[in-house]
Amino acid sequence: MESKQMIAFFEYFHNVINSKSLIKMVLSNQRNHASDLKSIIITIIEIKKGVRLNFVYRHKTNDVTKNFDVEEGVALTFKAMEDDFLNADLFTTTESVRLLVNVKGKVKIRSNAPALKPVASFGHDRVKERVIPAHNNIYLRELGVLNSAFEVRNEMNDKYLQINRYIELVEPFIKELALPDQFHVADMGSGKGYLTFALYDYLTNILGKKPAVTGVESRKELVKLSNEIAEKAAFSQLKFVCGTIGKAVLEKIDILIALHACDTATDDAIFRGIASGASLIVCAPCCHKQIRREFRVNNALKSITKHGILEERQAEVVTDAIRALLLEAHGYKTKVFEFISTEHTHKNVMIVGRKVAGKPAEIKKSLEQIVAIKELFGIKQHYLEGLLGYK
Ligand SMILES: C[S@@+](CC[C@H](N)C(=O)[O-])C[C@H]1O[C@@H](n2cnc3c(N)ncnc32)[C@H](O)[C@@H]1O
Repeated sequence: MESKQMIAFFEYFHNVINSKSLIKMVLSNQRNHASDLKSIIITIIEIKKGVRLNFVYRHKTNDVTKNFDVEEGVALTFKAMEDDFLNADLFTTTESVRLLVNVKGKVKIRSNAPALKPVASFGHDRVKERVIPAHNNIYLRELGVLNSAFEVRNEMNDKYLQINRYIELVEPFIKELALPDQFHVADMGSGKGYLTFALYDYLTNILGKKPAVTGVESRKELVKLSNEIAEKAAFSQLKFVCGTIGKAVLEKIDILIALHACDTATDDAIFRGIASGASLIVCAPCCHKQIRREFRVNNALKSITKHGILEERQAEVVTDAIRALLLEAHGYKTKVFEFISTEHTHKNVMIVGRKVAGKPAEIKKSLEQIVAIKELFGIKQHYLEGLLGYK
């Protein structure tokens, strides 16, 4: 069924790809209604190896994503139209073209004004307004931050901002590190992996480095999902392992990240970073229960801690202050600051430790300050102290 019109349509498809004006191509209206494959959405992406066509095969209950080089992708699209579908909708920056084939093989082509706005310019002109661009961003689409046209979903706008803000915050710390060509980043308690993916993308595609990034997560369904998305995005050095922050077997950690790991899981992460001699430790703690349980306040501070909410806030401040001091006692220069405004999340403190040569006098001072704070609040031991071997 190689009509002249079909061939002309596919030549045009090829030209649109070459001139970088493709927004997307959608194949739909199955020839065989019993087929499990409902549609195919084709977009153009740029990965390290060059320009590729990204195919999302929409099945009844799941999507399968594959990348092909341009020639192979165009040939596969042609073949899919011959064998599986009756409609092809080509959205370009200048027009929308619809190819309709009827069951007898008769072909019609209709051209209209552009139906979709271009998401952004392509390739080297990748949009710079956000550190992590949405344009053709496969992992953000697979994580549900973007829709199939690579636009930020309304309900995920805060998440998209948070991801970008996080990269903007860690960027200066990463840039000042003297990192070897190849290095290892561990993201402890990676969850669904939003920030792990963004960090890998940033390090690899924006800074041009060659990191190996490992997400450690105890929920195996999230690990499976994240590994599948890493494969779809062709992030070959990003992997997710199922395990606990305290016990997962990991190679030497150069950069340790732990964002919103609950309660003492943040301490487990900081400990792993210190024990591995990580150059950079970045954590955004979450729920500070251990220290609150340890409070035995018997002084003027009691008028603060008798109020539940103020006690909770005190516990947060004390927990994180001792974490920062312990980092300092282990040769890290620390910064504690607000991570993201409270309208996006209330978990908003970030602790960053950068390994420097610790001076004995400063180490001694940090340890003395910990003792003083503990005395004030009647605390026996901070969980991180126990991990580090302090009595
Ligand atoms: C609040 S989520 C944060 C996810 C991600 N870091 C982020 O900021 O988007 C915390 C994640 O850490 C995981 N987690 C908590 N404690 C853990 C532990 N000890 N070992 C491994 N994963 C843990 C949880 O299962 C959860 O997915």
